[in-house]
Amino acid sequence: MEHILFLFTIFLSFAFSTRCNDVYTYSKKDFPEGFVFGSAVSAYQWEGAADEDERKPSIWDTIFHSRKGPTGDVACDGYHKYKEDVRLMYDMGLDAFRLSISWSRLIPSGRGPVNPKGLRFYKNLLDELKSHGIEPHVTLYHDDLPQTLEDEYGGWFDRKIIDDFTAFADVCFREFGNTVKFWSTINEPNMLAFGGSGLGIKLPTPQTNSYRGNSSTNQYIALHNMLLTHASTASLYKKKYKDKQNGSVGITCFTYWMVPFTSSKEDEMATQRAKDFFLGSVLHPLVFGDYPGSVKRIVGKRLPSFSKEESDLVKNSSDFIGVIHYTIMYIAHLTSSTDQDFVSDMNASLIPFGNSTLVKYDVLPWGLEGVLAYIKENYGNPPVYILENGQSSNHSSSLNDVGRVEYLHAYIGAVLNSVRNGSDTRGYFQWSFMDLFEFLDPNYTYGLYYVNFSDPELKRSPKTSALWYSAFLNGTTSSSHELKNSGSFSAL
Ligand SMILES: *[C@@H]1O[C@H](CO)[C@@H](O)[C@H](O)[C@H]1NC(C)=O
Ligand SMILES: *[C@@H]1O[C@H](CO)[C@@H](O)[C@H](O)[C@H]1NC(C)=O
Ligand SMILES: *[C@@H]1O[C@H](CO)[C@@H](O)[C@H](O)[C@H]1NC(C)=O
Ligand SMILES: *[C@@H]1O[C@H](CO)[C@@H](O)[C@H](O)[C@H]1NC(C)=O
Ligand SMILES: *[C@@H]1O[C@H](CO)[C@@H](O)[C@H](O)[C@H]1NC(C)=O
Ligand SMILES: *[C@@H]1O[C@H](CO)[C@@H](O)[C@H](O)[C@H]1NC(C)=O
Ligand SMILES: *[C@@H]1O[C@H](CO)[C@@H](O)[C@H](O)[C@H]1NC(C)=O
Ligand SMILES: *[C@@H]1O[C@H](CO)[C@@H](O)[C@H](O)[C@H]1NC(C)=O
Ligand SMILES: *[C@@H]1O[C@H](CO)[C@@H](O)[C@H](O)[C@H]1NC(C)=O
Ligand SMILES: *[C@@H]1O[C@H](CO)[C@@H](O)[C@H](O)[C@H]1NC(C)=O
Repeated sequence: MEHILFLFTIFLSFAFSTRCNDVYTYSKKDFPEGFVFGSAVSAYQWEGAADEDERKPSIWDTIFHSRKGPTGDVACDGYHKYKEDVRLMYDMGLDAFRLSISWSRLIPSGRGPVNPKGLRFYKNLLDELKSHGIEPHVTLYHDDLPQTLEDEYGGWFDRKIIDDFTAFADVCFREFGNTVKFWSTINEPNMLAFGGSGLGIKLPTPQTNSYRGNSSTNQYIALHNMLLTHASTASLYKKKYKDKQNGSVGITCFTYWMVPFTSSKEDEMATQRAKDFFLGSVLHPLVFGDYPGSVKRIVGKRLPSFSKEESDLVKNSSDFIGVIHYTIMYIAHLTSSTDQDFVSDMNASLIPFGNSTLVKYDVLPWGLEGVLAYIKENYGNPPVYILENGQSSNHSSSLNDVGRVEYLHAYIGAVLNSVRNGSDTRGYFQWSFMDLFEFLDPNYTYGLYYVNFSDPELKRSPKTSALWYSAFLNGTTSSSHELKNSGSFSAL
């Protein structure tokens, strides 16, 4: 024990004293009044209870069962352990908690009757959060499409999804809207549409689970339908609920900060194209009612277009932008590619920065500053909530996750820098509250709490990062001196 604490102290002294930048000695009190700090999970990755109480499969269930590897059947068993987990959140001092609704738990067939047991679960969970003073931020769709809708019409490829999703959202607003004031419609639509091809990121996306494999068009069709679905849902909220419930509805965007691989003109131009394709394809329509000019020019007729009414509906349809950010990518100009997809359309390839891999990230907080400044400058400085940011580590490694502490400390500092520089960022959610079923690589998890997945009780144990975040949330400054003397750390 003692030597772990000793190493920890050395490490933090190194990390925090060798940088003479005052961002490394901030505290929660330096953030504006009302700024919220939270942590996040998603339904499939946390709830488990996959076939209990009338829940039907989503595309995630189907994909992971077909792979014959680990699944989210049990995950953290949040479905049964939610009271215990809310207690941990309360003890940690979270202001807010981001969760998602499993559509096929609430409406098992995607459309039609509401499942009373699913309804009861979410009401109980939301009430439990509220009664502990924790503000719920609810994402309606965290990638887990009801399998029935995928089977019936190919999910996001068909405009039928717009009505089905809006009806699902209507149930959520009606049933939970007195408790929930912050809604996000769709989790990272750009990664869902583009990630499965070219980037090599195998999310359960339209690409990885579809019989319609023409990536030269279907990526753009899926994204288009997600934007129209978001707009339809936001419009419903404004018409039917906003006056009574006074909440806000936003969408999220996966963000890499992108920097040129070399200083060549080609790489610089490729970097701007990549920003237009990857960020602009979501953010530009929300602010200006249409795709960026470069994307329209390059993709041409393969890009769906917005009618006048659709454009008006999409424009200004997001009360806030939910930023999801982990790392930086180099962008290199690319002139040939065998596939015709969004990577070859934008003539750019993404190359991990530094030692980062797809699941393990270096500490590069200036990437988050870059993203927040870019949104501020190009999209009218909208309200922003950072809805995911965090670092993975080998699930089997020690509870003493000093690397994660360094990462979180640096990135929260970057948020403070950005806010001081004029960004309208209003909240920060660490990913993830506890180790979850992670689908990119289940051996790399992000939790503040360790979850022993071999233990039938799925015991949760705080990592060093949990104690650090808790001390930060309590207003204890996070300078190395105070961390060293913080009594709570001797518990390790
Ligand atoms: C994919 O769609 C594009 C544009 O409609 C078309 O030119 C191409 O032939 C299609 N490819 C395949 C493999 O169907
Ligand atoms: C509505 O919410 C805003 C903040 O989102 C708050 O400033 C305002 O007081 C609320 N209005 C009512 C009537 O609750
Ligand atoms: C955008 O919508 C909000 C209400 O959601 C409204 O207050 C604001 O004026 C609108 N902005 C523009 C530019 O239409
Ligand atoms: C993209 O690459 C293709 C060759 O694969 C080339 O024909 C096209 O001109 C390039 N476009 C840009 C914008 O560099
Ligand atoms: C990559 O790893 C090396 C060796 O551990 C380290 O010196 C370097 O700082 C790392 N690069 C970044 C960007 O973190
Ligand atoms: C601060 O804001 C200015 C103006 O938007 C921008 O040029 C600059 O890059 C920002 N700095 C940081 C560190 O984000
Ligand atoms: C994770 O750490 C354990 C224990 O140190 C080690 O045995 C295992 O090989 C590591 N796994 C990965 C995927 O790095
Ligand atoms: C995770 O670790 C287990 C056991 O160490 C190994 O069998 C499996 O291949 C690893 N999974 C991945 C995705 O690397
Ligand atoms: C996880 O739980 C199993 C079964 O209860 C136990 O044998 C093992 O020691 C636990 N692992 C850790 C790291 O606590
Ligand atoms: C929170 O900080 C206060 C002093 O500001 C201290 O008395 C209290 O013990 C701290 N609580 C925790 C849980 O760290």
